[in-house]
Amino acid sequence: MFEHIDFSSIDVTAPPPAQEPERQYYFIAKAKKLLSVKSSEIGRPLTAMVKTFGCQMNERDSEKLRGILETVGYQPTDSEEADFVLYNTCTVRENANLKVYGRLGYLGGLKKKNPHMVIAMCGCMMQEAEVVDKIQKSYRFVNLIFGTHNIYKFAELLVSALENDRMIIDIWKDTDKIVEDLPAKRTYSFKSGVNIMFGCNNFCSYCIVPYVRGRERSRRPIDIIREIEGLVADGVVEVMLLGQNVNSYGKNLEEPVTFAQLLQEVEKVDGLQRIRFMTSHPKDLSDDLIQVMKNSSKICHHLHLPLQSGSSRLLKIMNRKYDKEKYLEVAEKLRREIPDLSLTTDIIVGFPGETEEDFQETLDVVRRVRYDSAFTFIYSKRTGTPAAVMENQVPEEIIKDRFDRLLALVQEIGREMSSRLQGKTLPVLVEHVNEQDDALVTGRLENNLVVHFPGDSSMIGKTVDVYLKECHGFYYIGEPAE
Ligand code: 5AD
Ligand code: SF4
Repeated sequence: MFEHIDFSSIDVTAPPPAQEPERQYYFIAKAKKLLSVKSSEIGRPLTAMVKTFGCQMNERDSEKLRGILETVGYQPTDSEEADFVLYNTCTVRENANLKVYGRLGYLGGLKKKNPHMVIAMCGCMMQEAEVVDKIQKSYRFVNLIFGTHNIYKFAELLVSALENDRMIIDIWKDTDKIVEDLPAKRTYSFKSGVNIMFGCNNFCSYCIVPYVRGRERSRRPIDIIREIEGLVADGVVEVMLLGQNVNSYGKNLEEPVTFAQLLQEVEKVDGLQRIRFMTSHPKDLSDDLIQVMKNSSKICHHLHLPLQSGSSRLLKIMNRKYDKEKYLEVAEKLRREIPDLSLTTDIIVGFPGETEEDFQETLDVVRRVRYDSAFTFIYSKRTGTPAAVMENQVPEEIIKDRFDRLLALVQEIGREMSSRLQGKTLPVLVEHVNEQDDALVTGRLENNLVVHFPGDSSMIGKTVDVYLKECHGFYYIGEPAE
């Protein structure tokens, strides 16, 4: 295990081993030496920050990147005025890319003031050739660019960046490799994301993820369980199992395992209190999974089930492999089997060719399923996806009008759904002291709703029974139960 490695005993004058993770341990040891020399030269410790754009997968990747940076001797900081700044980027919608370019300009200014500054970029955006071209042309001050498939070799790339003045670019098209036993620095002491699979094979016609994250690869159950046991021993009580499509987990393992079977194994980990997972694809949601959720005392009764559109016609063009009826059937089954389930979703407005009738079908599903909350997105054209070259793109004003109507409905229903718990006493896992009022703490119910109630920092990471006094739309004000 990584925790037991003595980096000072690794001989960095010898050639690096070919085997992983030993090769990365060698480069961690080497980076440690380089940094300690540099830090004594300039007479102060060196600092590093990692900024994350995008989803929970990226958040988890950033924890791994921070783990390496801290192990090699950087002091963590939240400020971009640091000696090492790494942007972990997202490209799922265009505005994610625009944000990154905006920030990069600002970083260039900071680098002029700090000659020791190293700037690195990684994540989904870097898997797009046009992006790397643009950085090479317009942002020459970037030191290191790497992608999603070789993130495990960050220590090795870091050493190259520290030893070279030229821009280092290392992007892979795909990989079948999963490297275990590398460090991670968690954002929260009491909860953690856990990758169970990487990549996506679904090729929904609007989505760039399969192109930038590659084909589906599942981690072995034994590695997942070992990681969770290690996390629990280190104070974690809640895990979020992460994958683009967790319901197809395990299909390509040497010994195939279903997601429902994996959940049953995770449930057995002593000391673990809450299990969450995301994201589920409606086409693969099995009856077994519903039964495992229903009978579990640890799996949270919350399911994120992306709808994308309520129109069977559009769902077909989106390549979602279910239609409106099938989705409603799954939702009804879930409601019947697990009545207190909280359902959330993702919806795209303005997919090419979307008519008012298609949009009405989406509103109809929202009214029937009654989501606790929904992420609503304006369709964003992603170069390289089939939808990007579809001719009938919807005009902006029409999309905006539909988006506003959808949001109003989603919020109205969300408020009603959230308020159904008013007056109940339920367990809340405390996450942090409230940012606005330090006499309050903020935590989450099993269904993921936020609750603020009187308390202090000693409660962080603890589960407290809270009386849910007032519902304020998407959060509750509560009181600790006697
Ligand atoms: N445009 C808008 N939304 C998108 N999503 C994925 N690709 C696009 C796109 N091109 C949304 C989907 C997905 C969520 C993570 O992002 O709703 O479920
Ligand atoms: Fe994208 Fe579809 Fe894969 Fe989700 S399932 S990541 S929307 S291609």
